[in-house]
Amino acid sequence: MRAFRTLIRPLGVAAASAALLAVSGCGASEEPDLVNGKELFVGKGTCGSCHTLARAGTKGNRGPSLDESFGPALDDGLGKSTVAGVVEQQISEVRRNSTMPEDLVTGQDARDVAAYVAAVAGQPGEDTGVLALAGRPEVSDKPVVADGGQAEIPADPSGALAFVARFIEADGGQVTLNMPNPSPIDHNVAIKGAGVDEKGPVVGNGGTSEVSAELEPGKYVFYCSVPGHEEGGMRGELTVE
Ligand code: HEC
Repeated sequence: MRAFRTLIRPLGVAAASAALLAVSGCGASEEPDLVNGKELFVGKGTCGSCHTLARAGTKGNRGPSLDESFGPALDDGLGKSTVAGVVEQQISEVRRNSTMPEDLVTGQDARDVAAYVAAVAGQPGEDTGVLALAGRPEVSDKPVVADGGQAEIPADPSGALAFVARFIEADGGQVTLNMPNPSPIDHNVAIKGAGVDEKGPVVGNGGTSEVSAELEPGKYVFYCSVPGHEEGGMRGELTVE
């Protein structure tokens, strides 16, 4: 966490927070809305597509992991409002030549996103209550039905760890799954269960992963075999009839 460390360490925490309060215009009236902050964080094309933040369920890797950036400082007792100030400042004053787009969110939205990051960065456990439901990827419960042994199951476009649907149905025999990857994170599609263990190639944004297997009737799992992705939610059920 380059920017943050260089800012905090030399000044000392107290001085840094005073400086940050001055630049980030705290004293802003409204209480931050963490649900709005989380929804914006995981929304399509925003923070989560480039940053890992475990509690938000994002695995972006084009920018630093915000758990690693802020978790240790929060654990050391640095105030959440100070961290939120740093995040908010980064949103509005991105370093020159950074790939991070400036002013992706502004005003109260920026304060909400910053407050959410400061509330959860590096924190164990899971979001609870309304926060747990916020920003979930849209995953369809309607099965994708294979046609001629072929089914298309795109990855979630936002970078969330999900396919667009939870269920696939196919007839027995040769089954091929195609996974277009519109997300900013590398994924593949794989099939396992009942003696079957096939993995398609891992592809980046714009690529399509493909996996084929000879399947007897029964239940199988389709998933992404990139480490952590299946556990994060990138799996579903493939029923062969
Ligand atoms: C297109 C990718 C991209 C998006 C989208 C993006 N960032 Fe970043 N972010 C980066 C990169 C790359 C850096 C590394 C530092 C730099 O280049 O300034 C960074 C740095 C940061 C930092 C500083 C962390 C550190 O360790 O210094 C914070 C905080 C941050 N981003 C928060 C956010 C938030 C909040 C959003 C959403 C509003 C967001 N980012 C959206 C790519 C992105």
